[in-house]
Amino acid sequence: MHEFAIGNGKPFDPTSRFCNAVSNVICSVVFGRRFEYHDLEFTTLLHLVEDSIAHVNVELFLIIAPFLAKIPFFPKGGLPSFMQLRLKLKDIVNLHRDTYDEENMRDFIDVYLKDLKMKTEQGVDTYLSDDELVAVVHNIFNAGTETTSTTLRWALLYMLKYPDVQKRVQEEIDSVVGRDRLPKLSDKPNLPYTVAVIHEIQRFASILFMVSPRYNRSQVEFRGFTIPKGTHVISNVYSVTRDPSVWDEPDVFKPERFLDGDGQVKKIPQQIVFGAGKRVCLGEQLARMELFIFYTHLMHRFSFKKPTDTEILNTQPKPGGVLTPYPYDICAIAR
Ligand code: HEM
Repeated sequence: MHEFAIGNGKPFDPTSRFCNAVSNVICSVVFGRRFEYHDLEFTTLLHLVEDSIAHVNVELFLIIAPFLAKIPFFPKGGLPSFMQLRLKLKDIVNLHRDTYDEENMRDFIDVYLKDLKMKTEQGVDTYLSDDELVAVVHNIFNAGTETTSTTLRWALLYMLKYPDVQKRVQEEIDSVVGRDRLPKLSDKPNLPYTVAVIHEIQRFASILFMVSPRYNRSQVEFRGFTIPKGTHVISNVYSVTRDPSVWDEPDVFKPERFLDGDGQVKKIPQQIVFGAGKRVCLGEQLARMELFIFYTHLMHRFSFKKPTDTEILNTQPKPGGVLTPYPYDICAIAR
């Protein structure tokens, strides 16, 4: 909140403020610590996450065929940022192993190490391993940083674009929570319009428009198509969240679509922004809490405006592994 207030109403790009705050939540869970925003280790990690997601397609090529990195066309012509990030995370895991104390569990890494140690000592067959731990930490750090902070960037951009929605959210928060305290998770059931707005932000942005491939273990008949065993199947999230047979005017930002006749939030099965099937997003519950808390606190404390009335907002997504907004500036006016 302080980071938004120091701009004193002057225009700024909110990207790094969101990345820092959101990433520190994951760092607390996984590494047992948060970082100061200007810490070099932290800024390097965040830069590598951003870079590896932005170039995810090229980087996948580099992992499969590392010799391509020698061609100047490929970014930096060196170790892909995806791999650089993994090495940095490996250092953090190694440091944990060196300072491991069974009596003092600090975080996710320690709990994993404890389980691995126990299973190894008992001779239990397990998929847990040192390499797998680094891969899991990498996965959680990547998946938990960029997704939530990108959604929050879309949230503010849409508030600039739809000031009436912003006003209605603020009115609901003020009437339910009041001006003397910040919103809490327990307020959520009493803020249906605000929750509907968060759902619509996620649907409209559909940041993870395609999820990682799966393959079927046996032949499947689906709507007249035969999908042979072992086919790579990819869910196209974007086509589901914009399907005109499900959503009335899918290209219009309409939070009311998530409210029923009594003004309560309704579940729409095609809202699959956290994926579908058995391997839906591992961090869904955490992400929902983060989005609610960050978004409602910002709406409670500030009104967001474009730097000038004539500013043209670009709400088209920037192409990449995650659909992010193009950089934009915002003015945060204290309420
Ligand atoms: C707004 C925020 C988020 C969105 C929209 C989102 C969305 C998704 C989606 C669509 C998938 C793929 C699911 C599938 O393949 O069917 C996924 C996977 C995953 N997410 Fe999230 N996610 C978010 C936040 C988080 C957070 C905060 C964490 C951190 C704990 C996280 C951790 C993961 C992990 C580890 C996976 C891989 C799960 C697996 O492969 O089994 N996500 N997420």
